[in-house]
Amino acid sequence: MLSTLLLAWYDAHGRVLPFRGTKDPYRIWLSEIMLQQTRTETVGAYYTRFLERFPDVFSLAAAPEQDVLKCWEGLGYYSRARNLHRAAKQVAEKYHGTFPADLDALRALPGVGDYTAAAVASIAFDLPAPAMDGNLTRVLSRVHGVREDVGMPSVKRRLLELAQSDMPETRCGDFNQALMDLGATVCTPGTPDCAACSLRLLCDAYKAGDADDLPIKAAAKPPLELSVAVALVTCRDKIWMIQRKETLLKNLWVYLLVENTGNPADMEKALKSAGIRAAFQGTLGTARHVFTHRVWNMTLYHYIAENPACREGRFVTLSEMRALPLPTAMRAARERAEKLLGE
Ligand code: ADE
Repeated sequence: MLSTLLLAWYDAHGRVLPFRGTKDPYRIWLSEIMLQQTRTETVGAYYTRFLERFPDVFSLAAAPEQDVLKCWEGLGYYSRARNLHRAAKQVAEKYHGTFPADLDALRALPGVGDYTAAAVASIAFDLPAPAMDGNLTRVLSRVHGVREDVGMPSVKRRLLELAQSDMPETRCGDFNQALMDLGATVCTPGTPDCAACSLRLLCDAYKAGDADDLPIKAAAKPPLELSVAVALVTCRDKIWMIQRKETLLKNLWVYLLVENTGNPADMEKALKSAGIRAAFQGTLGTARHVFTHRVWNMTLYHYIAENPACREGRFVTLSEMRALPLPTAMRAARERAEKLLGE
């Protein structure tokens, strides 16, 4: 009953999205990885560009990681790109380029969790696996009147069971995507548009009048605020850059970053340990970047190096810098760098 009403709604009102209308598991997997932490509106252009550059799993598997990161530049959560690349290699080698039509085998690929495995299995292979994202959680907790913290494992299990019993025998991918679309356009967070909802008469929260209060979620911890000093070290037409080794932004290129310091002596020390002799020129401004669990409050400094020698990192020209993958967190610093090198 629920699935019949839902699929009829989807046929009439489902969203037209660039990654719909294909059964190619490679394309579906790619779109689902991109959609994990990024809005549908943002994903569209990246998805099209990525497929032009890497049209199939073999071309992605054969590419250098830096090319994959460059194509992902600006999308954020770069571990997705690194895992995507690793998974492509596995599919190319272990499965000869054919994605497995099996939930557990999909789940075993790097970067593929319960949600993504279920999304790919249902959309590409019509397997009856509920893709429990924020939308499904919200819609189903309202429809079924689940009034407990949806962050709790027992409540998650219950919602998954409810979704499983609502799942139709065919059109499993459409069922998941219909719930996503309903959640994105009608059964929205905050105050949903119940008057426009095809599931209204089945909906427990509509009957009880508490849809606005569902789902119930424990308050999230606020992200950690850090001060970060960013040093732009130039030497004539070059600027010094370093490839991140830390988990956050791993393998992307940044300028010198020193966390939690307002002390110039710490910067001098960091420069010295990278084998750079440079003179402080002044402050270039501030920037702020919000990650999921931390915030960088950055102050940008300019240094001029005596010569382009260094033990770590590289001095690069403007065009070399543009070819490297830089994270969005470096946007303000990069704009400053462009100015310094362009002068
Ligand atoms: N969000 C994640 N995957 C999606 C999909 N296939 N359709 C709509 N929204 C989504």
